[in-house]
Amino acid sequence: MFKEYSPAPVLSRASHTKPVFFETVCSLTKLRLTVPVTMKLILIEMNTGLAKAPSKQKVDNKLSAEREKAGGALPLDHVAIIMDGNRRWAADRSQPRMMGHKAGVKTLKHLVRHVGNLQLKFLTVYAFSSENWQRSKEEVGFLLDLFQNVLVTELEELAENNVRLTFLGDLLQLPESLQASMRRAMEKTSANTGLALQVAINYGSRLEITEAVKKIGQEIVAGRLQVDEITDELISSHLYTNGMPDPALLIRTGGEMRLSNYLLWQAAYTELYVTPILWPDFTPEEFDKAIVEFCSRQRRWGT
Ligand code: FPP
Repeated sequence: MFKEYSPAPVLSRASHTKPVFFETVCSLTKLRLTVPVTMKLILIEMNTGLAKAPSKQKVDNKLSAEREKAGGALPLDHVAIIMDGNRRWAADRSQPRMMGHKAGVKTLKHLVRHVGNLQLKFLTVYAFSSENWQRSKEEVGFLLDLFQNVLVTELEELAENNVRLTFLGDLLQLPESLQASMRRAMEKTSANTGLALQVAINYGSRLEITEAVKKIGQEIVAGRLQVDEITDELISSHLYTNGMPDPALLIRTGGEMRLSNYLLWQAAYTELYVTPILWPDFTPEEFDKAIVEFCSRQRRWGT
C-alpha cells in the first residue's frame, strides 16, 4: 500500500510538486509509524483490561460490593505477584538501576499495609529468582544486602501488624547472615494470625518441582510410599507452598506476558493479570483494580 508513495520516482518530478509531495510523504510516514504503535497500545490495553480503565470511585464501589457479598472479606484468599520493572523505572528517570530496587521496597511496604487492611490471607511475592544470580555481581550483592536491611528495619512493624512472614525457595544457598535474619523474622512472626506474607527468594518453580519429585522418589525407595499413592495433593504437599491454597490471582507488573518460572504448579488455574505499570509505580489503587478485574472473570476450572 505504501509502495506507490516511495520517494525515489516522486523526487524526480518538477519542483512545484515538492511541497505537496513532502506533505503527503510526511503524513503517510506518520501514519505508518502511528498505526502499529496505536495497535500495540490497544493490544496491551486489551490484554491488561486497561481498555475499560474504571475510575477510582467505580473501583472502590465495586470492591466494597464484592466484599459485602463475601461477608466483609475479600473474594479471594491468595494473590501472587511478580514485581517486575524496577530497573526500567530507574532508567526512565536516568537513575542507577539500584534506585529502582529501593523504590520497589517502598511499593511493597505500602502494598503489604494495604492488603493487610483488606484482610487478604496470603500474599506471595517474587523477590529473587534462581536465575537472578546471572545478573551482575554488583546487582546481586545489592539485592541481597537490601533484603537483609529490609528484614532488620521492617521486622518490628510487620510483627506489630500481625503479619506472618515466611520464605519460599532454595534458602540454603543464600548468605548465612541473610539466612539468620530470615530465621529470626519467621520465628518472631510465626504466631501471627493476619496476612501470611511469603517472599520467594532464590526461588525457581522447576527446581521446586524437581526437589519434590526427588523426595517422593526417596519415599518410594524406602518403601514408605507406593507409586499409585502419588496424587495431585501429595505432590502439592512436597512443594515449598505446602499447606497454602493456590493463588487465585497472579499479578505481573512491567508488562511482560510470562510466568518466569514462578509457581508453575500452583498457578494451574490462577487468573493472570498483567499491567504495563512498572513495580515502583504500582499503587494500592492499582491492586484494587486487579481485584475488581478478577471479580469479573468467570473461573471455570477447565469445565
Ligand atoms: C524486578 O525488576 C524485581 C526484582 C529482581 C526483585 C527485587 C524486588 C524488590 C527489590 C522489591 C522488594 C522486595 C523485598 C522482598 C524487600 P527488574 O530488576 O527485573 O526490572 P526490569 O524488568 O526493569 O529489568
